[in-house]
Amino acid sequence: MKGVILAGGLGTRLFPLTKITNKHLLPVYDQPMIYYPIRTLVNAGIDDIMIVTGGRKSGDFLSLLGNGKDFGLKHLNYTYQEGEGGIAEALGLAEHWAKGDSVAVVLGDNLIERNIRTAVDNFRQQRKGAKIMLKEVHDPERFGVAYMDGDRVVEIIEKPKNPKSNKAVIGIYMYDGRVWDIIKTLKPSDRGELEITDVNNWYIQDGTMTAEVLEGWWTDAGTFESLHGAAKLVAEGGANRLD
Ligand code: DAU
Repeated sequence: MKGVILAGGLGTRLFPLTKITNKHLLPVYDQPMIYYPIRTLVNAGIDDIMIVTGGRKSGDFLSLLGNGKDFGLKHLNYTYQEGEGGIAEALGLAEHWAKGDSVAVVLGDNLIERNIRTAVDNFRQQRKGAKIMLKEVHDPERFGVAYMDGDRVVEIIEKPKNPKSNKAVIGIYMYDGRVWDIIKTLKPSDRGELEITDVNNWYIQDGTMTAEVLEGWWTDAGTFESLHGAAKLVAEGGANRLD
């Protein structure tokens, strides 16, 4: 299984911090934001990784990360997203490299406390379909929200105005090799993006989506509040524990 980190987009919610650099190069406490999703994949045993960059100063990713030696990697792959056509569009740029393989995808602004290795192993055994990870939050209207029937996800609504569930779909997704063709069928949403939620709803309709609740804390870092909150979580307890 391959790993893809999505670090494109223009980070407009963090202006002017992102006026001259890419959001994922900003510090979260003592490390650049992009370090955290890389550790998320490496700790889970995924070492064949592509980073989708974009926006401003994308060359700085190469200066900062090189071939990933600081993470025990031999090599890192990079590609570039023009504009910000959405998370699913950014993922689609990894197709030529993934060559039909399955993938674990991590959004470049998502940080976690614990290790997702068990979920990744469970997905490997699943063989077909997709897996998402859920976390209860107090502000579900900011996220993709999962509606459940028991343990089964029946639908995901992207940023609902009046959420009827508090289960956010976090920015870690696992897909089988069909994902590349599914992305090609997507139409832009009202906000002009190819939505990862549409990909996830495709797998729900197909009956091959599984979901697991994430253990430990999770946060995004794409707004001033969440960037500040992420730094506090890292400072207080640390991110990316090995267990
Ligand atoms: O954080 C989890 C949430 O992330 C999910 O619950 C939502 O379902 C999902 O849509 C996403 O919501 P956001 O609106 O917060 O995503 P945002 O536009 O902030 O993008 C998150 C990351 O995805 C960003 O740090 C880099 C990557 N990205 C995003 C876009 C729009 C790209 O690589 N390219 C893009 O065009």
